[in-house]
Amino acid sequence: MIYLKSKEEIELMRQSGRLVALVLSGMNKMIASGVTTLELDQWAEDFIRRHGATPAFKGYRGYPNTICASVNHQVVHTIPSGEKLKEGDIISIDVGVNLNGYCGDSAATFPVGIVSPEAIKLMQVTQQCLYRGIEQALVDNRIGDISHAVQSLAEANGFSVVREYTGHGIGRNMHEEPQVPHFGIPHTGPRLREGMVLAIEPMVNVGSHEVVSLADGWTVITKDRSLSAQFEHTVAITAEGPDILSKL
Ligand code: MF3
Ligand code: CO
Repeated sequence: MIYLKSKEEIELMRQSGRLVALVLSGMNKMIASGVTTLELDQWAEDFIRRHGATPAFKGYRGYPNTICASVNHQVVHTIPSGEKLKEGDIISIDVGVNLNGYCGDSAATFPVGIVSPEAIKLMQVTQQCLYRGIEQALVDNRIGDISHAVQSLAEANGFSVVREYTGHGIGRNMHEEPQVPHFGIPHTGPRLREGMVLAIEPMVNVGSHEVVSLADGWTVITKDRSLSAQFEHTVAITAEGPDILSKL
């Protein structure tokens, strides 16, 4: 079932959302050639705990860390490691928190130093896909309107959208109904209602949409090893329109 949130609950979720946004802005400042993804993870965990929250991913289905840190052709769910970032890499950071019983979830892809024009285009288009999807998060629209808006912009730019991992409802639990695919058909799927809160999180690939998971049980990469980017926001559906909760 889909849990609708009251205005008071949405204000609590805004606090959770603001905390994930603060973590991502810290990441943006720290990301540089020579930094390891484990250093980013440790900073994120300390920062979240100092704010009286807990990292929502850590321990979730056995996930060992606070952030997912997926570099270049890694798509999602990459466990932080001692590997150093290099000039020209792109890195997708996904982070979730639980603050006062409510979750926030957000992701962004960052450049490490100077990156290729293709990487810049991929990051820009993926972020635009997220915002196109958010524009459709309107009362009386349907999930498929969000899905289609994301997919059509990605494909119009010659890119592809990952099928296997979707966005989701979010609230007291990190993953709630409904699922939010980032590809689909307009005017289909569950109807959007005031008080729904969705995490919309398109993963966009330069090459084919196909992905494979690695033997560590977490890391997902593009099958053709092409670059992948991801942007995610936690968004409330209100009578006044989409309300992005995971921002500063
Ligand atoms: N934002 C991702 C999601 O909604 C993060 C989950 S990572 C996990 O699926 F480690 F917690 F699984
Ligand atoms: Co999510």
